[in-house]
Amino acid sequence: MKDFIFCDINESMEIKEEAVKLLLETFPKANMWPDLDEKMAVETVNESIVEENICLGLKINNELIGWGCLRSEYWGKTWELHPFVISTKFQGKGFGQILMGEIEKIAQEKGAIGIILGSGDEEKLTSLSEKEINEENIFEEIKNIKNIKNHPYEFYKKCGFMIYGIIPNAYGANKSSILMWKDIRKNK
Ligand SMILES: CC(C)(COP(=O)(O)OP(=O)(O)OC[C@H]1O[C@@H](n2cnc3c(N)ncnc32)[C@H](O)[C@@H]1OP(=O)(O)O)[C@@H](O)C(=O)NCCC(=O)NCCS
Repeated sequence: MKDFIFCDINESMEIKEEAVKLLLETFPKANMWPDLDEKMAVETVNESIVEENICLGLKINNELIGWGCLRSEYWGKTWELHPFVISTKFQGKGFGQILMGEIEKIAQEKGAIGIILGSGDEEKLTSLSEKEINEENIFEEIKNIKNIKNHPYEFYKKCGFMIYGIIPNAYGANKSSILMWKDIRKNK
C-alpha cells in the first residue's frame, strides 16, 4: 500500500481545482452521474467545503486521489454522504475503504450515529433496472439485487452499508436511486 495522507479540500485553490477535476474525470468512466458537467462539479466542491460539512481528501505523492463529503441532517445524528470518489487509476486498492473509515471516525467525533447516501442507477448497472418496480416486488427486488456492471452499491455494502429502500424511476423509467444507510455507533 502506497503512503497516503488525509487533507483538507479547502486548504488551497489548487486542491479545490484537483477536486473538481477528479469528479469530472472519474464519474463518466464509472458510468455514474451522466449529466455531470464542469459547472455542477465546481458547485459540488463549493457546497462541500463549507465549514459545517466534513470534507476530506486523500493524497498520494502530493496528488489528490480521492475525496468525500458528509453533510449534517437530522440534527447532526445522521449525515448524508455526497460526493465520494477515488480516482480511476487508484481504484480497487482499498483507498475507498480507508477514506470512508476516516470520514466515519470524524463523523462519530461530531456525534453522528448514522450515514445515509443515495446512489443513482441511471446507466442501468444493476438488476433493478431490468423490471418495473411496484408495491408487490420492491422489497424482493432489493433483497435479490445483482450487480451487472460495477455499480458502487456493492462497495458501500462492503463498507457496512445496507440498502434501506429505493426510489423507483428516480432518474427516468427503470432508473432507480438506491438508498443506503450505515449504523456508525461505537457501542451498539
Ligand atoms: C466506488 C469507489 C469510491 C470505490 O473506491 P475503491 O477505492 O475502488 O474501493 P476499494 O478498493 O476500497 O474497494 C473495497 C471493496 O469494494 C469493492 N468494490 C469497489 N468498487 C466496486 C464496484 N464499483 N462494484 C463492485 N465492487 C466494488 C472492491 O472490489 C473491494 O472488495 P473486496 O474487499 O472484496 O476486495 C470508486 O470506485 C469510485 O470512485 N468510483 C467512481 C465514482 C463513484 O461511483 N462514486 C460513488 C457514487 S455514489
